[in-house]
Amino acid sequence: MLGGFFKSIPAVALMGAQAGAQESAGVSAEALIDSAKEAAKDSRLTFTPISLSREDAVNVPADYKVGILIKWGDPITADAPAFDPNNLTPEAQSKQFGYNNDWLDFFPLPAHDVPNPNHGLIAVNHEYTNPELMWKNWNAAGQTKAMTDVELNAHGLSVFEVIRDRTGNWSPIPGGRYGRRITAFTPMELTGPAAGHALLRTGTDPTGRRVMGTLNNCAGGKTPWGTVLTGEENFHQYFANANAVPAGRTKDIHTRYGMPNAAGGYPWSRHYDRFDLGKEPNEAFRFGWVVEFDPYDPNSVPKKRTAIGRFRHEGCTIQVAPDGRVAAYSGDDERFQFAYKFVSTGRYNHLDRAANTDLLDSGTLYVAKFNDDGTGDWLPLVFGAGPLTAANGFASQAEVLIDTRGAAAALGATRMDRPEDMEVNPVNGKVYLALTNNTSRTDRDKDKANPRANNRWGHILEITEDNGDHAATKFFWEIFILCGDGNNPAHGTFFAGYDPAKAAALAAPDNITFDSKGNLWIATDGMPSTLPGNDGIFAVPTDGQERGFVRQLCSTVVGAESASLVFNPDDTTLFVTIQHPGEGGAWTDNPRDLTSTFPDGAAPNKPTIITVSKSRGNPVVGS
Ligand code: FEO
Ligand code: CA
Ligand code: CA
Ligand code: CA
Repeated sequence: MLGGFFKSIPAVALMGAQAGAQESAGVSAEALIDSAKEAAKDSRLTFTPISLSREDAVNVPADYKVGILIKWGDPITADAPAFDPNNLTPEAQSKQFGYNNDWLDFFPLPAHDVPNPNHGLIAVNHEYTNPELMWKNWNAAGQTKAMTDVELNAHGLSVFEVIRDRTGNWSPIPGGRYGRRITAFTPMELTGPAAGHALLRTGTDPTGRRVMGTLNNCAGGKTPWGTVLTGEENFHQYFANANAVPAGRTKDIHTRYGMPNAAGGYPWSRHYDRFDLGKEPNEAFRFGWVVEFDPYDPNSVPKKRTAIGRFRHEGCTIQVAPDGRVAAYSGDDERFQFAYKFVSTGRYNHLDRAANTDLLDSGTLYVAKFNDDGTGDWLPLVFGAGPLTAANGFASQAEVLIDTRGAAAALGATRMDRPEDMEVNPVNGKVYLALTNNTSRTDRDKDKANPRANNRWGHILEITEDNGDHAATKFFWEIFILCGDGNNPAHGTFFAGYDPAKAAALAAPDNITFDSKGNLWIATDGMPSTLPGNDGIFAVPTDGQERGFVRQLCSTVVGAESASLVFNPDDTTLFVTIQHPGEGGAWTDNPRDLTSTFPDGAAPNKPTIITVSKSRGNPVVGS
């Protein structure tokens, strides 16, 4: 019975007290505020920070250790062959750990009421492929269909079992009941208001309800009922020839979503008509969604939830509102795009897991407007309301969702500095939004929520929902951190009021997570272009005297980002994905073309999941 474990609804009472407007039955607001202060006092981080580094090494503090959990090519299903980097085949790759691991989460086993910190499932995204690092002497012109098929099978997700032994080491368990690869070939369903719409029908799927696969799965989330949510992000780059689409509504939407006019970033359209917009103009409308599936059931059919909108979904994070409706937060990662929240019509049922199966198929999608006075509005994307009418090109709710970007722009939502991950703090109930950077913003289009022109370092916003209610349509917001080097006044940093000279320099916040004490953990993507160090992991208290005191825990290898991070249930292990090690280099006959030798000391580089833990098994946050 899975429902039991996932029944906790974190911090609803606390949030109400902090917002000063709600009280839980029998508990005074003062008592709740006292307990919030107690939690904050306890949130201080005690690890000795490391410094920026350009070494080709994963650096952590002296009393921490790093383990390799799994890497590209390792077996996932029981029948997976041994990895042979000199003979990649589509069939082998469909059974092995995929490329460029990004978001990951931990799903405890057995799924009982008490979460087991030592045994669970890892679900992990494989965002994209680097053919120049996967094949020796690769070039696009020489790419065969079999190579394209390897790439298609290296995308998607992996699900596998992990267990920690008495010495504290984690190991994957290949095969077993749960081992599963999801790829760009896995059959999926489109569900929700846009499913079946004419714009979603193609030559191979006249129903508009059946899709092959998922692509560019960047960040994601875990529902309270124990399913995976994964966001399809930069799906546009797999398609080609938007210039061959005749002028009209389809072309307009493709333009808004940046579909490539000639060849895209990948040569796949040479081998598959579905990636050629001139031949299958609607296939691209079947990507850019949030996909949900059950990691505990390897036969479950993934569903693309159209109610949550179509854009370059960074991830999708769920929070249960006091009345039981669920809110799903998701950013659209492109310069000047928007931050969104979906609120379900139905309520979460913690007693009956199956009752939540299609909760994400009906509800209201909102987009954020950050007002300069620190208030905010969630603007509903509802067909017929305001400008979302046929006169403006929106003939139905399905069209509002397929062209979410156009609808959000028509409503006057705030144009943001690349919305990446959004996560809810389990202690204070606030929502944190990572905005990675935006070098295209000028003085003319600055606003209070995106306050820096040429924002090279990115920032993080802290959002408080009205009355602490995640289904609210109003919110309050403030700047939590303006990233950069606090010792360089030209960067214009801000660390929640903390002394900038003492905070660690960081840039390009991307994926974020929380420990159970409410400290924010930040993974960066793109630091080497602005600061003298590789990407890394940073932690910062969100409450208490050290609110804003950023410390660096981890620095990753050359060319890589530590793309995503999550704690096991007792916070003693931080699982981290090392994505695109060696990017910028290539695997050729010349060893000097390789910029990193992670993780094996030789080509090929392998995207890898690592574990970071304290040497004596204490919580990573510090004992
Ligand atoms: Fe795949 Fe927005 O990072
Ligand atoms: Ca990301
Ligand atoms: Ca996250
Ligand atoms: Ca990233």
